[in-house]
Amino acid sequence: MISNIKSIFGVNSDNKYGFTTDFHSHLLPGLDDGVRTFEQSLELILELKKTGITKIITTPHIYNSKYNNSPETILPKLEELKSYFKTQNCEIEIEAAAEYYLDDFFLNKIKNNEPLLTFGDKHILFELSYINESHLIHEAVYLLLSNGYSPILAHPERYNYYHFNLNKYQILKNYGLSFQLNINSLSGYYEDDCKKMAQKLIDADMIDFVGSDTHHGNHILALQKSLNSKYYKKLLTKDIKNNEL
Ligand SMILES: [Fe+2]
Repeated sequence: MISNIKSIFGVNSDNKYGFTTDFHSHLLPGLDDGVRTFEQSLELILELKKTGITKIITTPHIYNSKYNNSPETILPKLEELKSYFKTQNCEIEIEAAAEYYLDDFFLNKIKNNEPLLTFGDKHILFELSYINESHLIHEAVYLLLSNGYSPILAHPERYNYYHFNLNKYQILKNYGLSFQLNINSLSGYYEDDCKKMAQKLIDADMIDFVGSDTHHGNHILALQKSLNSKYYKKLLTKDIKNNEL
């Protein structure tokens, strides 16, 4: 797989990502459905660097009963990864936060003022169920904003129950929620409807951030295609805030 990736990117690939910071990925080994080993993490990060990324904020899932992560599992693993990179002479600015799954477990953490993993200026990344529209989102966004956080919804284009109802997205935006598009949505890596929704959100100037959501080598292969897509080039003309992080 990696040899395929290398042949696609080549050694002197252009900096097509367009920004220096990527803040959505699963590159801490063994914590979730992302990479399994330090070596895999290194391989993927070297490929991400070739797209122009110089800073990675990796975001393991925190999803109660599925991926039982916390600052206690994530931050020591980040330090281990940094130590490994030093031995490999890999220079990359890397931090860790999380991709929180919105459920009562997460909502209670917010209510109880438990320490949450953030990045940038108290930015916090969270995702929703792919199956059921969550009634918790309004309360969660309200509480996060009230507590000084800057909430970012991961891949809004991937929630089928919002599709083709731009008003639902507008309501969330009006609350003060930011949107992070998965770049790979633009090449149809996920579903076709997801690609169409991604394009609509770009056309409506509703995207604030982009992310690679890299879990494995297939995401890197798709990324090259996505970065070359017409809509990614269109998105680069918009006000995207990745470099503020
Ligand atoms: Fe993710």
